Amino acid sequence: MKVQIIIGSTRPNRVGPQIAKWVSENIPTKSTVEYEIVDIADFNLPMFNEPAHPATGQYEFEYTRVWSEKIKEASGYILVTPEYNAGYPASLKNAMDYLYHEWSNKPVMIVSYGVGGGPTSSAQLRQVVERLKMHPVDTSPALTVTREMTGEHDQIKDISTSFKPYVGNLEIAAVELLFKLTENS
Ligand SMILES: Cc1cc2nc3c(=O)[nH]c(=O)nc-3n(C[C@H](O)[C@H](O)[C@H](O)COP(=O)(O)O)c2cc1C
Repeated sequence: MKVQIIIGSTRPNRVGPQIAKWVSENIPTKSTVEYEIVDIADFNLPMFNEPAHPATGQYEFEYTRVWSEKIKEASGYILVTPEYNAGYPASLKNAMDYLYHEWSNKPVMIVSYGVGGGPTSSAQLRQVVERLKMHPVDTSPALTVTREMTGEHDQIKDISTSFKPYVGNLEIAAVELLFKLTENS
């Protein structure tokens, strides 16, 4: 089974890729599950502009078909989202809105981060995944990223020390995700 760890932010100097890498390195490994980091920025999706509703699966644009094929590969997802102005970023919503059945009936973990851990972003995103008929796990790690933690290009200087307190929470969420993946398979 493949689980994709999706980086929700796309701006230069973002910490999203660092956080996704931390998730991939700290999530308990399981021989039956392969984790893959997927960066929305690589897919160059414009602001949603498909003429048909995504639930039809009729995609006019090649970038949508490429995005659809990538998301179809996974049995579950970990959405890594920052908090921007008390919400999740438009880049993540846009990428999610492009598809429908590709997401549906699949388990999902939400990992948020921000100066306050991003709980509002996480809660809002939970509503979105539920509308897409995804199955969110109960535990949503919320990682605090303070200004003091960051250095050159706003990157986190010592991520393994800074995020050590969250490893246990990630492990609990991973067990919940695995349970839902197994139920679904
Ligand atoms: C436009 C903007 C708005 C932000 N608003 C919030 C916020 O409401 N709550 C919060 O905890 N952090 C907020 N932050 C801090 C971000 O969560 C933090 O900078 C994080 O690193 C952003 O993720 P990224 O680096 O992957 O883009 C904001 C950052 C930006 C750029």
